[in-house]
Amino acid sequence: MVGREVLDLLILVRIQVSEICAGDQKIPGSSPGSPDKIMTKNQLVKKFYKINQDLYQKGRDPLKCHGPDHHMRVWKYSLYLSKALEKRGRKIDYQILIPAVFLHDITAYDPYKSEKDHWNHQDDIRAAEKVLKKLKYPREKISQITSIISVHSTNTKVISKNEPVEATILRDADKMDVFGPLGITRILMAMSRRFYGIPEIIKIYHKEQNIKHRYQMMKIPEAKRFVKENYKYSREFFKRLDQDLST
Ligand SMILES: [Fe+2]
Ligand SMILES: [Fe+2]
Repeated sequence: MVGREVLDLLILVRIQVSEICAGDQKIPGSSPGSPDKIMTKNQLVKKFYKINQDLYQKGRDPLKCHGPDHHMRVWKYSLYLSKALEKRGRKIDYQILIPAVFLHDITAYDPYKSEKDHWNHQDDIRAAEKVLKKLKYPREKISQITSIISVHSTNTKVISKNEPVEATILRDADKMDVFGPLGITRILMAMSRRFYGIPEIIKIYHKEQNIKHRYQMMKIPEAKRFVKENYKYSREFFKRLDQDLST
């Protein structure tokens, strides 16, 4: 492992040890339902993580590979990327980013509510909107949050060059959870849940190069650098799977 990767790993471990983040900052007007109250970044994370866990508990048949643990990892990656961008002078609106992170896959908690009994990312937008309106979250922030959620998926066809930085952070952080042993396990869990067999998995992830596509979608250099080894591992895994099935 080269020096930079060791440093990246240490930063992530520190994030995990400190649970959410050190040096918590106050975000004006961030208290859902009471704009006069100021919530810190940590308080917002705790609030939305709790909402996420409650929705998971109430879910009829949640997809476990998209559960609260996935949302929390996406938050840790988001924080890691945010800190890197802030060092370069970018301003991050955590009042948008934190709810978007913890609400981005909540429809996976009740996938059979969706049309055709299949989880659809468009439903995430409606579900997130419902939660935020119930919280009386600032109205102008709701549309920003839902528009960020709407472009986080791998199916996003066109990525606008002028998209908000929070949209890029969420999409890249979400992709960071796709590679390596953990990412492969999540993919296999999701695919078997959708009744895909091994040949279809090989077709999508090896022949159609879905893994490569997801890696190439990432825009923030630190995101790509962080997952590079895991990305190579995933490509090799699906290639070997194809070879083993063909012999
Ligand atoms: Fe998603
Ligand atoms: Fe996700």
